[in-house]
Amino acid sequence: MKQIRRIGILTAGGDCPGLNAAIRGVGKAVLGRHIEAVGIRDGFLGLIENHTIPLDKQSLAGILTVGGTILGTSRVKPHRMEINGRVRDMRDVCLANCKKNGLDAVVCIGGDGTQKNAFRLFEKGLAVITLPKTIDNDVAMTDATFGFDTALGIATEAIDRLHSTAHSHHRIIVVELMGHRAGWLTLSAGIAGGADVILIPEIPYSVKQIAKAIRRRSERGTNFSIVAIAEGALSRDYAARFREAKARRSRARTQSAIDRASGELANLDQQHAGNTLRLAQRLEKLTGLECRVTILGYVQRGGTPSAVDRLLATRLGTACAELIQERVFGVMVAARADEAYPVPLDQVAGKRKGVPIDHPWIAAARAVGTCLGD
Ligand code: F6P
Repeated sequence: MKQIRRIGILTAGGDCPGLNAAIRGVGKAVLGRHIEAVGIRDGFLGLIENHTIPLDKQSLAGILTVGGTILGTSRVKPHRMEINGRVRDMRDVCLANCKKNGLDAVVCIGGDGTQKNAFRLFEKGLAVITLPKTIDNDVAMTDATFGFDTALGIATEAIDRLHSTAHSHHRIIVVELMGHRAGWLTLSAGIAGGADVILIPEIPYSVKQIAKAIRRRSERGTNFSIVAIAEGALSRDYAARFREAKARRSRARTQSAIDRASGELANLDQQHAGNTLRLAQRLEKLTGLECRVTILGYVQRGGTPSAVDRLLATRLGTACAELIQERVFGVMVAARADEAYPVPLDQVAGKRKGVPIDHPWIAAARAVGTCLGD
């Protein structure tokens, strides 16, 4: 069996805390196994443009606690790259560049989209292995993703701090959290920060129910409220419109019908932007309380990784090195309790993990009287 001598490492998708810890974990552990490592710049773009940097003991030192990624990142998809207005499949170029650089395998560190892109390269014959990162915690088949714990800490602290203003000014503060189409971050930070209302994409909300819960608090003498809303949370009305548009797209048989339905979905997405501001305006009207909005945004993805994320990234990264030496490819290194397991990429790619409606965190939120908008 051919020995692995040299591997590439890339980080793709949104940056998050813990990426450098993972690069260091994989890098140091492969060097210890006498395998060379090179960094591929800016995600899959570097694989397409053949942009690499050497990774040695020196470049891997001092990065454990550093936020972002020393390799850079991008959201480029190798199978659908737009070049001069034309969409092209660049997977063969990726394979050719790996060959040129003598790479026996590529480690792809990323979220849901990266798992899909890596799988598509694996299908083309590239030896890939992936690690799950994202503040959204929505990668399937793993207990956790690194980045999430740090974001949870940041978002919880923000909600804690917003309490002072909400309380002092007798206001409603609507705080928007990231998470793409999953509610993990908002639900956990909302619970940990004691938000009075938590709105997640998995539970479409009724503005009237939220206003009712806030008015009930006022009647009991508490005339401030914190509403934690996920960026992907939907009102019941929007949720129904999205459901219908998606159904139309999956029923579409001709290219023009598919394009029309996809355009409709894109329009809905665009209209949905600004949802948090609209919710705040409606709550102000319905409750008579002053309402303010805080959008946490990229603050949630920045800075030093928490101890939990450093540990997770290091243990998955080092387990990845072991699997590389054993030539186990086409898998994601998943976290299961204290262990790291290889999960075939076809079980991960395109299978985003939302919050199950019967999840214990949802039960806990309800049990302490939190309104979930339903
Ligand atoms: O996946 C991480 C994430 O921060 C999501 O929570 C968010 O929806 C998205 O990335 C934002 O993407 P971008 O960095 O491309 O604006």
